[in-house]
Amino acid sequence: MKIIATDRQGKVHQLEGREHWSVMEILRDAGLDVAAECGGACACGTCHVYVTDGWYDKLPEPSESEIDMLDMALAVQPGTSRLSCQITCSTETDGIKVTVAPE
Ligand code: FES
Repeated sequence: MKIIATDRQGKVHQLEGREHWSVMEILRDAGLDVAAECGGACACGTCHVYVTDGWYDKLPEPSESEIDMLDMALAVQPGTSRLSCQITCSTETDGIKVTVAPE
């Protein structure tokens, strides 16, 4: 399953997702600039991405805790902003497009 990820320099990476892993883990392990300071506990907001190209609406709704954390994140874009640690790789996310949000 693929993840098409754009980094902060605008470079596009085609990454291989892993079932049940979070998108954050795939981005981080590929060396993209995702601090993920809380390790995926939905407690830091440093894994903020923009989910683009219609993919936002295909994902399950964000949890209350994700919404609360996004409220504190910088450069939030309603309708695209998500925390990548809360997006789980699956066949349903094959081909998802994300862009790492600015710091
Ligand atoms: S890694 Fe901390 S909120 Fe996602």
